[in-house]
Amino acid sequence: MASVTLRELTKKFKEVVAVDRLSLEIQDKEFLVLVGPSGCGKTTALRMVAGLEEATSGEILIGDRVVNDVSPKDRDIAMVFQNYALYPHMSVYDNMSFGLRLKREPTGKPWPMSSRRAFSKQEIDRRVNEAAELLGLKTLLQRKPKQLSGGQRQRVALGRAIVREPKVFLMDEPLSNLDAKLRVQTRAELIKLHRRLGITTIYVTHDQVEAMTMGDRIAVLNEGVMQQCDTPLNLYNHPANTFVAGFIGSPAMNMIKVSIRQKDGGYVADGGAFQVELPAAVSDKLGPYAGKVCTLGIRPEDIYDRNLEGLVKPTPGNTVTVGVDVIEPLGNDVELYLTAGEHQVIAMVDNKTLARVGEKLDVIFDMDKSHLFDPATEAAIY
Ligand SMILES: Nc1ncnc2c1ncn2[C@@H]1O[C@H](COP(=O)(O)OP(=O)(O)OP(=O)(O)O)[C@@H](O)[C@H]1O
Ligand SMILES: [Mg+2]
Repeated sequence: MASVTLRELTKKFKEVVAVDRLSLEIQDKEFLVLVGPSGCGKTTALRMVAGLEEATSGEILIGDRVVNDVSPKDRDIAMVFQNYALYPHMSVYDNMSFGLRLKREPTGKPWPMSSRRAFSKQEIDRRVNEAAELLGLKTLLQRKPKQLSGGQRQRVALGRAIVREPKVFLMDEPLSNLDAKLRVQTRAELIKLHRRLGITTIYVTHDQVEAMTMGDRIAVLNEGVMQQCDTPLNLYNHPANTFVAGFIGSPAMNMIKVSIRQKDGGYVADGGAFQVELPAAVSDKLGPYAGKVCTLGIRPEDIYDRNLEGLVKPTPGNTVTVGVDVIEPLGNDVELYLTAGEHQVIAMVDNKTLARVGEKLDVIFDMDKSHLFDPATEAAIY
C-alpha cells in the first residue's frame, strides 16, 4: 500500500501546457478522482504517474520514493485504460495471467539463464483464481474475449490489473465503453472492490456524476490547472470558483449577473427585474463589492415554487417573479425553464407544482445556499 504525491507536476508538449504545476497528496487507500472536461490534462497526468510520459518538471512520489526516473514496470502500479485491449486469441485466464507469466527476475547470468520467471505457476494460479472470484469471472476463465459481454471484458481488464497486486491503481475512464446501465452497475462494483482491496486509486473521468459517486476526494482540472480538490460534498456546497460551480452538479448552477448594493444595513443583489437579499452571515465579505457587478450562483434545486410547502420561508427578500417558458417533468421533480427579466434560470421543483407555460410564477431563492463570485477572478466571495 502507498500514498502518491505530486509536486508541481508539469507537462509541456511544445507550446501546449497539458498539465500545469499539479500538486496533490493522495493518501494510502484513498480513491481520488481526477475530473475535468476533454483535453484538460487528465490522461497526461495519469500517464506521468504511470511512467509512460516523462514529466517536464516537478516530482512524483509513490510512498516516500521519488519515482521520476523509475521505469514503469518498477513503479508497482497497474493501469486500466478506457480501451482495455484484451488479446483476442487468448482465454480469459491467459489474458489475466499474461503480465505475470512475462515478468522476469534478474539473475545476473548470461542469456538464456539471464532471467527466470518472477512467479511460479502455483502463484499465478492463486492470483488469477482470487481475482476471478472477486470479479465473478470464475466460470468464464476458459472463454475468449469475443464470447464475453462488454461488462465482462471490462472486468477481465480489471482482473489483469488486480493480479499484479500493485500498490497503486491508475484508471483512465475505464467505464466509458459500457452502456449507461452497465456503467452504473460496474461503478458500484468498482467501489465495493476498492473497499475490499484498499488499494490507493487514481481514477480519471470527465463525468461529474461518476466523480461525485465514486471519489473519496475529487480533484477538478481545467486547462491543465487544478481548480479545487475536496470531498464531493464540499465541492458541491463550497465551490472555489465559477468553473467548479458550473462543472459539479446537474443541471448546472444558475449564474446570474447582479449588482451588489447596500440596503437597510445589509446587502442586496439586484438583477434588474428582481432583487434578493444576500445572507446577513456573509455581510462582512461584501463591503468591497458594493456598487459592483458580481455573479450570483444558485442551484436549480435551491429554487422553490412559492405555492408549495417548502423548506424556506418566503420573504420579500427571497421571492422572485418569473415567467415560465418550458416545463420538463422528470418524475419526482419537474425542471422549469424560467425567465427573470433578461436572465434565464432553471429550477428543479416538486412535481406538485401548478406552474403553467406562458404564465407568471413566484419562486423562492434559498439565499442561504446561494454563492457569489468575483467578476474579475471568478473566485467565490462566499
Ligand atoms: N502526445 C501529445 N503531443 C501533443 N499534445 C498532446 C499530446 N498528448 C496530449 N496532448 C495535449 O495535451 C492536452 C491534454 O490532453 P489529455 O489527453 O491529457 O486530456 P484529457 O483530459 O485526458 O482529455 P479526454 O477527456 O479527452 O481524454 C490536450 O490539449 C492534448 O491535445
Ligand atoms: Mg483522456
